[in-house]
Amino acid sequence: MSENCDKNLETIQNQENNDEKINDNDQECKSDEFYEHAKKYWAKIPATVDGMLGGFGFISDTDIKGSRLFLKSLFNLNNGPDRDRALDCGAGIGRITKHLLAPIFKKVDMVEQNPNFIKNSLNYIGKYEHKIGEKFVAGLQEFVPKDQYYDVIWCQWVLGHLKDEHLHQFLTLCQSGLKKNGVIVIKENVTSSDQVEMDTEDSSVTRPHSLLVKIFEESNLQILKDVKQTNFPKGLYGVHMFALKSKTVKSEVNLHEKLNQLNVND
Ligand SMILES: C[S@@+](CC[C@H](N)C(=O)[O-])C[C@H]1O[C@@H](n2cnc3c(N)ncnc32)[C@H](O)[C@@H]1O
Repeated sequence: MSENCDKNLETIQNQENNDEKINDNDQECKSDEFYEHAKKYWAKIPATVDGMLGGFGFISDTDIKGSRLFLKSLFNLNNGPDRDRALDCGAGIGRITKHLLAPIFKKVDMVEQNPNFIKNSLNYIGKYEHKIGEKFVAGLQEFVPKDQYYDVIWCQWVLGHLKDEHLHQFLTLCQSGLKKNGVIVIKENVTSSDQVEMDTEDSSVTRPHSLLVKIFEESNLQILKDVKQTNFPKGLYGVHMFALKSKTVKSEVNLHEKLNQLNVND
């Protein structure tokens, strides 16, 4: 892909009047570079809890406790989700699968872009291995969940790796992947500056709370709950847990319609 990008750059340099097509192509190249860079970054990271949490492995227990309370509060909602199948997005080695999802759900699927993390998850998850369903090695920007399949789709510390347009696309597809009472949970850092902050080292962005809410709104999602994680060390970004569900009644959500709308069918 980078070769094509170089060619496109040459073409652009050789043309005084860049037409729209080339600009689109350029955007695509930048987008590919964004994902390729993240891939390279994660390829150098050890398959450990500390690796998953950027050297903050010691906050894992607090994180899981906060998530467990949040998830339990969702089961107590009227028409809350069932406990059959969950999807762990950007699962890494399966830290969340092992400590949060597998003890609760009958089956947990994982989607993760790094094949080495997925390979190591087998050992790491240990006694809950029998609870693991499918493991998808894929970027969320290209992942299409099965239709009406999941009770909970859990996305944590990964959505900053998606460009806004792909986050919107992913959230739209996730709605089709949910069962009737299914819920999407997003647990992410938020900036306090009300600005998007870019991390060029791992190729990710941290969004302000207001932008996340805007993207949820534009993706036809309603916020059922929005809770801030407590007891994390000072100096870290604030972390919010959102429970989201489609504003559209389930029978109206049709995967193929959505795919057509998003033009990802071909
Ligand atoms: C900060 S770690 C968090 C892992 C896990 N969610 C946890 O909390 O333990 C980010 C994970 O997202 C994965 N990742 C990065 N970009 C991704 C993408 N575009 N699609 C899917 N996974 C991605 C990384 O490989 C890494 O495993």
